[in-house]
Amino acid sequence: MAEVPILQMHNLGKTFAQNGRAIEALRGANLSVRKGEFICLIGASGCGKSTLLRLAAGFEIPTTGEALMWGMPIAGPGPSRGMVFQDYGLFPWLTVRDNVGFGPRSRGRPKQEIKETTERFIELVGLQNFADVYPHQLSGGMKQRVAIARVLASDAELVLMDEPFGALDAMTRERLQDELVELWSRSGLTVLFVTHAIEEAIFLADRVVVMSPGPGRIDSEYAIDLKRPRDIASRDFNEWRRLLASKLHSHHARKAG
Ligand SMILES: Nc1ncnc2c1ncn2[C@@H]1O[C@H](COP(=O)(O)OP(=O)(O)O)[C@@H](O)[C@H]1O
Ligand SMILES: [Mg+2]
Repeated sequence: MAEVPILQMHNLGKTFAQNGRAIEALRGANLSVRKGEFICLIGASGCGKSTLLRLAAGFEIPTTGEALMWGMPIAGPGPSRGMVFQDYGLFPWLTVRDNVGFGPRSRGRPKQEIKETTERFIELVGLQNFADVYPHQLSGGMKQRVAIARVLASDAELVLMDEPFGALDAMTRERLQDELVELWSRSGLTVLFVTHAIEEAIFLADRVVVMSPGPGRIDSEYAIDLKRPRDIASRDFNEWRRLLASKLHSHHARKAG
């Protein structure tokens, strides 16, 4: 029997009402994600990427269709699905340690377990020497590491990332991409990662899902068969870059025309 996917979307749609107008952010999305996959969603700004992610998180209720985790309808937010945002979303009044320990603490785990979980994930993202500082004392890259550690310490098996590296400088971004792939390949996590950067998607993903705007839809999917670690200067990588760029460009052309 086929394994139940960790995440499934059936005819998923979302329409927002705004000033008496209906805005169809997402129409008829079908997606199936297996445990352990790394999926990147790409598409122009406004094509519904964040909406799709928020539906998976349970932050929004679908207008049509349904989203399922392990075959069960997603009815609201839950610790098994953790979201990482571009602007980090850390609690500024808590230290790194207390940010990372937030999930287990709020679920009332025993003191010793909270301590062990927290230290383990702080170490995993290499912030042992910064456990007692506050977010404003950290660089952007370090803050994003804290956000990732916090999601993992909360027991997330599905990590939802909404342009998480978009605010970082190019070098930090590349380093975090490497670290994320490394973490993912060791952990068995499943990642749904939104970006509008083609190169980032090809570097990270097992599968790239391309979305198109007006209304937001899933346009096509590509299995990226490049072996890891990936070489962004290789010919195969370049071919993917060209293919996806022309795909996305065709959306812009249609929209403008
Ligand atoms: N809460 C909301 N209320 C009204 N419109 C929204 C809301 N959230 C998103 N939208 C609209 O839905 C469309 C898709 O948005 P979004 O999912 O944020 O796209 P993306 O993340 O791809 O840029 C956009 O037109 C956006 O303005
Ligand atoms: Mg967005």
